[in-house]
Amino acid sequence: MSQAPPYVDRYDPGTFGIKDVDAGLRGLPPGEPERLGPLFAAMEPWTRYQYRPEAITTYLSGIERGAPRLAIMAGNEIAGAVCIRLNWLRGPYLQFIAVLPPFQKMGLGAAMLDWLAQEAKHNGEKNVWVCASDFNLGAIRFYERHGFVRTAVLDGLINADIAEVLMRKRL
Ligand SMILES: CC(C)(COP(=O)(O)OP(=O)(O)OC[C@H]1O[C@@H](n2cnc3c(N)ncnc32)[C@H](O)[C@@H]1OP(=O)(O)O)[C@@H](O)C(=O)NCCC(=O)NCCS
Repeated sequence: MSQAPPYVDRYDPGTFGIKDVDAGLRGLPPGEPERLGPLFAAMEPWTRYQYRPEAITTYLSGIERGAPRLAIMAGNEIAGAVCIRLNWLRGPYLQFIAVLPPFQKMGLGAAMLDWLAQEAKHNGEKNVWVCASDFNLGAIRFYERHGFVRTAVLDGLINADIAEVLMRKRL
């Protein structure tokens, strides 16, 4: 009989070798949730939901066991943030990822997904999960290119008129 993997508190912080940039993850430094909240609130998909900047700041500031809030680094610069629920459904749930526009299309998102799958596998997990809003076709395509498959449609989860697409990558 297969056993449940042990509860995981943290994954090892990642270092990514992407082209010409030392990239990786670290804890969000003090002051960053306040700086990033308004920047993320001004980006799709959060504009569509009219998230208030303070709501994103509060979420990024949260300290929760097994749910790290991390900065995505490109060299010494903070390029974005990622929040992961490490013990979700036989694998972690990528709850939040945002790469700031000047840092997009450099491979940071892809490197982060690779790191997450690698760490999950290392911890004996069988899946990585993510949700994307149905209108966020760029994100859905991005996840599909990285091995995620549309698994369920969650109607009206956040907004009555919008569905969230639950996507699964089997490890
Ligand atoms: C979705 C998101 C996280 C992707 O992050 P990213 O760092 O830009 O991702 P990557 O650079 O790895 O890949 C993005 C695209 O750039 C392209 N790309 C990657 N490296 C590249 C390079 N060196 N030169 C040119 N293009 C490149 C890839 O082909 C990829 O295309 P695809 O999206 O069609 O797969 C980012 O666009 C983002 O934050 N979007 C807004 C918020 C959002 O939608 N979050 C997800 C909510 S579910």
